[in-house]
Amino acid sequence: MQNFKKQIAGKLEEHITELSGAEILNMVEIPQESSMGDYAFPCFRLAKLMRKAPTAIAKELAEKLEGCALFGKVEAVNAYVNMFIDKEILLRTVLTSALGEGDRFGGSDIGAGRKVIVEYSSPNIAKPFHIGHIRSTVIGNAINNIYAFLGYDTVRINHLGDYGTQFGKLIVAYRKWGKKEDVEQAPIKTLLEYYTRFHDEAETDEGLADEARLAFSKLEQGGAEETGLWQWFRDESLKEFSRVYKLLGIDFDSYAGESFYSDKMGRVIDALTDKGLLEESDGALIVNLEEWDMPPALITKKDGSTLYITRDIAAALYRKDEYSFHKNLYIVASQQNLHFRQWIKIIELLGLDWADDCVHIPFGLVSLEDGVMSTRAGRVVFLEDVLNRAIERTREIVKEKNVNTDNMDETARQVGIGAVIFQELSNNRIKDYVFSWDKILNFEGETGPYIQYSHARASSLVRKGGEPTAAAAGRPESLDLSYLEPESAFELAKLIYRFPDIVLEAGEKYEPSIVARHVVDIAQAFNKFYHDEHILTDNEAEKTAKLSLVLAAKQTIKNGLFLLGIEAPERM
Ligand code: ARG
Repeated sequence: MQNFKKQIAGKLEEHITELSGAEILNMVEIPQESSMGDYAFPCFRLAKLMRKAPTAIAKELAEKLEGCALFGKVEAVNAYVNMFIDKEILLRTVLTSALGEGDRFGGSDIGAGRKVIVEYSSPNIAKPFHIGHIRSTVIGNAINNIYAFLGYDTVRINHLGDYGTQFGKLIVAYRKWGKKEDVEQAPIKTLLEYYTRFHDEAETDEGLADEARLAFSKLEQGGAEETGLWQWFRDESLKEFSRVYKLLGIDFDSYAGESFYSDKMGRVIDALTDKGLLEESDGALIVNLEEWDMPPALITKKDGSTLYITRDIAAALYRKDEYSFHKNLYIVASQQNLHFRQWIKIIELLGLDWADDCVHIPFGLVSLEDGVMSTRAGRVVFLEDVLNRAIERTREIVKEKNVNTDNMDETARQVGIGAVIFQELSNNRIKDYVFSWDKILNFEGETGPYIQYSHARASSLVRKGGEPTAAAAGRPESLDLSYLEPESAFELAKLIYRFPDIVLEAGEKYEPSIVARHVVDIAQAFNKFYHDEHILTDNEAEKTAKLSLVLAAKQTIKNGLFLLGIEAPERM
């Protein structure tokens, strides 16, 4: 697509000798108010360099740009040059790109096939997959989609929490109180009960903790019974997780979680030893991080067993070898900030220059109205329940409103899940929030269903416009675009024009909410256009031009929703 900002910078460069092309490009702004132009150039810096009043410079520049075909109008307002792109040029560019590129519109090949690992979701087996996990799952999925759209070769990894001393406890608990059928019936709920009971009884029975330690060390040595049980707990848990992933429409390329690295720890210890980074402390091995104002990282315990952080170091080393990544992204809660700072610093201390390519992408906490979520206290909301209730609620609304759908189950699933995902992605990821059933089941206002509905409305217009018109609308080269110059149409076109930059910015900042908010803006602008303008008029040329913009809006909303991991039904 034509890059107006670059073209403008090029024009300005012809008249400005005091600043470099790159500096000028950086200074070109998009004004908040569209009455101030589509682009603006502030003259304060030039005023200093030229020792001249900024208003005078703005006036001179505006005069020089006046005759240029790219602009419909150029004005000097105070110290600014305000530039309005020629409407016809902008409209033709937008329609040609959006309709020509279709499902690829907004994407690019800037990634040039470089590998980006996106690690997300990563729940702990035998523990509830709760509302807290939705954040990593949904944000990570969107970041993956955005990077793939920008031409990177992404690898989606679920770093399952499937290893650690807690499995010693679970094995002992199962041996004592376990029933196979119960686990098969409701794996996570049952395993969690065993685990809780273990903790309760261990308070009075000191022998239990020793038994658990023994069981875990047997598991580490590959003991047949322990390994068998652990494998079974893992398989049963994964069955439950898979149900949720299926509802969300989310996939992974690898489930290599913590246990995958259990036989790859030697390398970590060796590397740390070679660099002289390990210190002994009470029989345990640590890396001292005092110099960087961090507490020491515990690498092995007294009994030689490794820890969460050791496995993260092993995983990073393995991934660098296996994937030779350009970037290795971790979508993990901000509670783990210190953990990530610690181990990424350790990678750096190992002399590995790719430490900087490992990026922790944190997000805020979800709490419940009655407090922080606590598995032990039974204060937990299961993700699967949230998704199913959202689907149920949608089904009720669809029935109430007599929504036009040929497949009720499918629509209820698409819209219910879309509502949950959108609500998750519409706020800045770092913000904490309180989970509320009312909020998640509210479909009014700037919500996922509102966007999906706007998309379906666009689809319906195109259907009603008839095949031949829609086909002509899809070839914007020969349309009379003057019909799209009224304000609401032109504002919509400008938002569509910005979509590729929005995707780029969301990728750079690892912030899917930037896409979410822009899609809201487009849906709102589209609805305004729909209300202000009579689209399906009898004037064929006008109808075709307008439907062309409808098609471009529909495509952009669809692509935006796709990046967020939300489906865009044709009817609802
Ligand atoms: N399983 C962990 C948890 O639920 C998240 C894992 C994050 N990823 C990582 N590489 N440490 O808290």
